[in-house]
Amino acid sequence: MKFDQPAGTNPIDRMKLVGKATNRIDGPVKTTGLAPYAYERHDVADGQLYGYVLGSAIAKGRIASMDLSQAKAAPGVVGIVSTLDHEPVPLLGFNAANLFGGPVIQHYHQAIALVVADSFEQARAATSLIRVKYDREDGQFDLSAIAPTAPLKEDSEVRHGDFDAAFGQAAVTLDQTYTTPDESHAMMECHSSIADWSGDKVTIWTSNQMIQWNKRSLAAALQVPEENVRVDSPYLGGGFGSKLFLRSDAVLAALAARQVGKPVKVMLPRPFVFNNTTHRPATIQHIKLGAGRDGRLTAISHVSINGNLPNGDIETATAQTELLYAGENRLTQVRLGVLNLPEGNAMRAPGEAPGLMALEIAMDELAEKLDMNPVDLRIVNDTQVDPVNPDRPFSQRQMIECLQRGAAEFGWNEGKAYPRPGQRREGEWLIGTGMAVGFRNHILMKSGARVRLSPEGRVIVETDMTDIGTGTYTIIAQTAAEMMGVPLDAVTVRLGDSSYPASAGSGGQWGAANSTAGVYAACVKLREQAAAAAGFSAADDVDFADGEIRASGRAVPLRQAASGGELVAEDAIEYGDLNKRFQQSTFAGHFVEMAVNAFTGEPRIRRMLAVCAAGRILNPKAARSQVIGAMTMGAGAALMEELAVDTRFGFFVNHDLAGYEVPVHADIPHQQVIFLEEADETTSPMKAKGVGELGLCGVGAAIANAIYNATGVRVRDYPITLDKHL
Ligand code: MOS
Repeated sequence: MKFDQPAGTNPIDRMKLVGKATNRIDGPVKTTGLAPYAYERHDVADGQLYGYVLGSAIAKGRIASMDLSQAKAAPGVVGIVSTLDHEPVPLLGFNAANLFGGPVIQHYHQAIALVVADSFEQARAATSLIRVKYDREDGQFDLSAIAPTAPLKEDSEVRHGDFDAAFGQAAVTLDQTYTTPDESHAMMECHSSIADWSGDKVTIWTSNQMIQWNKRSLAAALQVPEENVRVDSPYLGGGFGSKLFLRSDAVLAALAARQVGKPVKVMLPRPFVFNNTTHRPATIQHIKLGAGRDGRLTAISHVSINGNLPNGDIETATAQTELLYAGENRLTQVRLGVLNLPEGNAMRAPGEAPGLMALEIAMDELAEKLDMNPVDLRIVNDTQVDPVNPDRPFSQRQMIECLQRGAAEFGWNEGKAYPRPGQRREGEWLIGTGMAVGFRNHILMKSGARVRLSPEGRVIVETDMTDIGTGTYTIIAQTAAEMMGVPLDAVTVRLGDSSYPASAGSGGQWGAANSTAGVYAACVKLREQAAAAAGFSAADDVDFADGEIRASGRAVPLRQAASGGELVAEDAIEYGDLNKRFQQSTFAGHFVEMAVNAFTGEPRIRRMLAVCAAGRILNPKAARSQVIGAMTMGAGAALMEELAVDTRFGFFVNHDLAGYEVPVHADIPHQQVIFLEEADETTSPMKAKGVGELGLCGVGAAIANAIYNATGVRVRDYPITLDKHL
């Protein structure tokens, strides 16, 4: 189905099931431990052996020699896969760092060997017996050292008008630098895979967000045709972008299984995940704002610097600055310097998450200089069109409504002036409130599905879409049930298998809207088949409801349409240029109350509110869970998350969940989420947009601004730990 015109009315608009707060249909299997995660697939591949991975102990250089003799002789060892016995595995564009093969070391904890043994303990013990000699080279691990000379990343620059002139003439200006640290995804389930070969065909049970990307990457890495690779990932224990791309667990399991001729399972140990896989790279962001006395921005500049491996990608921290506020004269750039740290790559809301942590403090600082209410400053700078392409309106933009609703619900400081800091105290706690705007683009991705109607009247959906804990199973069931006019429990959803039709996958908050649109498309075809099989003509205005097909005063039970045999329909949603004619984005208003201990500087969240405008909300319960999870992640980014870089040896020191701190329940006493009414006709027949990343965007700055309001100390370097505002 080609979607190239605004949606108009369709069966989803009935909203009998779609749009209803619905419990996760995978909840029972997940909470009872019955949902099989990749490492627990005891039901597949008989005789699984255990692989344990060895990582490089240097960050840059070469392996001079590797002595495997002791490890080979250790009890239970079946085989050892050595990086010296393999060429570097071919990579598609998704990965920057070598996953395995060859003597060259690009980063600390690069995988260099895998020991395969009868038991996990035997494999782990034998790995410690491998002796490696390195020729170590000096590397660059310090972002601040390379920042002054980091070159402009091609195509990252947007210039409009004359920034320098406008900034020079502005009545009020702000010129500040903000930093965000390296962050780790810290999902619960470590990367894991089981590989099993049958001839020259391999099946891999793994934990991955993007099945098609993974299948193609694995085929390239193993140098087998794509059709020889099957990837299966029905359940994931989180991803946050860490599992968008092929990782070393899958490559090593497959190489090892091929070498020893038996199935091999590999989980990356937690301490290995931090330096072997990817992370969100640190940024240094320089923002300049110029405004008139009325608060209207005349000049906006945002230059973000980050480091990565030589062929690594950028953190697009300037993305929101291109679109969020009006203003004639604009300059955004990303500069990328070479570091020899592990690969920086996508982590939940790559770009906007760290970008808004800077921009939305800057806006608060500008509001203070103008002595203007921070909400009002955002409102006067609203734009309903792309600021550099005024012919492109936002398809929907309720930023102002998010802020007004949020201000009313939260009890935000009214009045025209900037709220003075350091005014409230309760015992030893300084109290403050802060706000920020959240912004994240909506992305269109082709997505396919197959839908079956069984003779018993069951509807079965198959797509390689993944559920990373987001509620995909449930919203797909809601969509198919709505389309076919059956109750939710008449739908079976099967996900994550590359032998099903290719989907959008889970990433970039595009999963829900696109994958359900693909199911919609397949259901449209199935409805046509079912109506024809039930004897309706193409001219009939057919309705599917209450388990019946109805038109022209006649009603036929749905299952009767399949009485001659199962009906099967397959289709994909494909998009025209509506996202070029319209800017499709999502918006939020974040409001936070903080307490800061006057003696110790300890920051404590008191309450958080997010008002979100993100198209039609397919399942308010699942969407709320996404947003509160994202707000929690934003609290982590603001207050505690930081990979500590050892700038001498080039690795992340705090490589476990004891040293890498994330928020726990006690850190988050109260959260409220409100969704504004929206249905975006330009995005898909579902009229939905992404929401899973929006909830993170802007949270950090709202917390930082609340801390400033409490203490009067402006911290521009995240995380805002207690030492920074004493
Ligand atoms: Mo997201 S970082 O695209 O999984």
